[in-house]
Amino acid sequence: MKIGLFDSGIGGLTVLTQLVKYMPDAEYFYVADTLNAPFGTKTQDQILVISLRVLDFLERSGVDCIVTACNTADASIRSAKVQTQIPYFGILDFEISADLQRVAVIATKFTVQNGIYGRILKSKGAKEVLEIPCQSFVKIVEEGLIDSSQADQEIENCMGILRNSGTSTLVFGCTHFPFLAHKIRAHFPELILFDPAQSVAEKVWRALMKTNRDNGKVNFFVTSDPSSFSNKILKYQRLFDLPFTVELIDLGDPIR
Ligand code: DGL
Repeated sequence: MKIGLFDSGIGGLTVLTQLVKYMPDAEYFYVADTLNAPFGTKTQDQILVISLRVLDFLERSGVDCIVTACNTADASIRSAKVQTQIPYFGILDFEISADLQRVAVIATKFTVQNGIYGRILKSKGAKEVLEIPCQSFVKIVEEGLIDSSQADQEIENCMGILRNSGTSTLVFGCTHFPFLAHKIRAHFPELILFDPAQSVAEKVWRALMKTNRDNGKVNFFVTSDPSSFSNKILKYQRLFDLPFTVELIDLGDPIR
């Protein structure tokens, strides 16, 4: 089976890691549109153009399904009701069984403005949903600063609002953010952390169960600076533990 994934950078690795747990014998096609990163500060129209280009590339690569490993892109694709030629899954296809009395979601600027998490979680029974923009976390993760004092500072700046708020469950509404889970846990030990990726990976596995196996492998495609991306991947390869290649592709002019 061949699975297409995409994100603006390394955030999708948190989804790839979960997919590989269920399907270590799949061939993955992971597009990181690094030329257009970050996505979360862009408009609906810009993110949609980026997403349509990547969906088209993945469809032409012959994958069996697409998994949008980026909340920002998935929110934009869903808002525009895009139809794909092949089965489509996104990180927003999650199921959740945690305490939903008072839930907080940390996400990019775009995802929070879109309000999609509030709508989804309320449709699943959440009483109150607090959506908090934490766009600066994306850069911290991409720049390998997850253990820095800058990360501590940004967590306090963005999430301080959660102190004494009665929130029980925190949802990672951006695929970059689980890389900061250890730090967030240290700052807010009372919160139950929920990453939608595991539930989405299980859904993809159920849908593909009968598809032929391949040799486990990850083909990364980036739209700028393949060597810096390869270095980041080498640092995190232990998470998905498959052989990989990194190739530079051209998906068109940068979207600004
Ligand atoms: N990892 C992405 C998400 O889940 C996008 C981060 C960004 O490029 O702003 O939303």
